[in-house]
Amino acid sequence: MNADPRWADVDRHITEMLVNQDAALAAVLESSEAAGLPPISVSPPQGKLLWMLARLCGARRVLEIGTLAGYSTIWLARALPEGGRVLTLELDSKHAEVARANFARAGLTERIELRLGRASESLRQLATAGAEPFDLVFIDADKASSVEYFRRALELTRPGSLIITDNVVRGGAVVDAASTDPSVVGVRGLYDVLAAEPRVSATAIQTVGGKGYDGFAIALVIA
Ligand code: SAH
Ligand code: DHB
Ligand code: MG
Repeated sequence: MNADPRWADVDRHITEMLVNQDAALAAVLESSEAAGLPPISVSPPQGKLLWMLARLCGARRVLEIGTLAGYSTIWLARALPEGGRVLTLELDSKHAEVARANFARAGLTERIELRLGRASESLRQLATAGAEPFDLVFIDADKASSVEYFRRALELTRPGSLIITDNVVRGGAVVDAASTDPSVVGVRGLYDVLAAEPRVSATAIQTVGGKGYDGFAIALVIA
């Protein structure tokens, strides 16, 4: 899938006109690039959508799987009321170090907890500890584990919570039933679970933009 140059142009237009990305958020992207991290944060318009969804569901407790430099984390943290918290899970200690510096620069150290380690292990611990339910979960780590992360997210939420998963279109590869790409297989498995799971009602939205052609799934926990 070749990116149309207009996608990035329009993303810039939306960002300049509507997103109000401030210096702290711009600094996250700069620090990420400077540290050699991959350019796979959500786009500015998508970050603002995460902020909006968190506001709309009145989120106080947010769980994020996959921190990178903390760009999406900061959008989510800024949506929370006084006393709200984001727990973000990251495997890579270099990514975590860059993210922690960004949280400090954004003045959000008190509001964000970063837990270093395999997400599957951190999620198992949260479930075992009987953690208070999260109001919103953003799944954005290794796509091969999408089903496991979604099942854990469902355990850790309550009716009314949102579970959002990034990168569920993959340039259209998601419709390739013959794909052996573990990311595609993982994301296809997620659709199977979303379709069959009576405790959620879900949709997915295709997106184009500066990051190419992809999309996200939103599941509302209904029971
Ligand atoms: N949510 C971020 C982007 C995350 S990129 C944003 O939009 O700004 C995906 C991140 O998931 C990477 O930092 C990667 O190191 C992390 N990751 C990959 N596998 C993981 C695992 N098994 N456990 C926890 N984090 C993982
Ligand atoms: C990839 C991961 C992401 O989370 C993303 O938003 C884009 C690309 C990747 O691993 O290629
Ligand atoms: Mg992503």
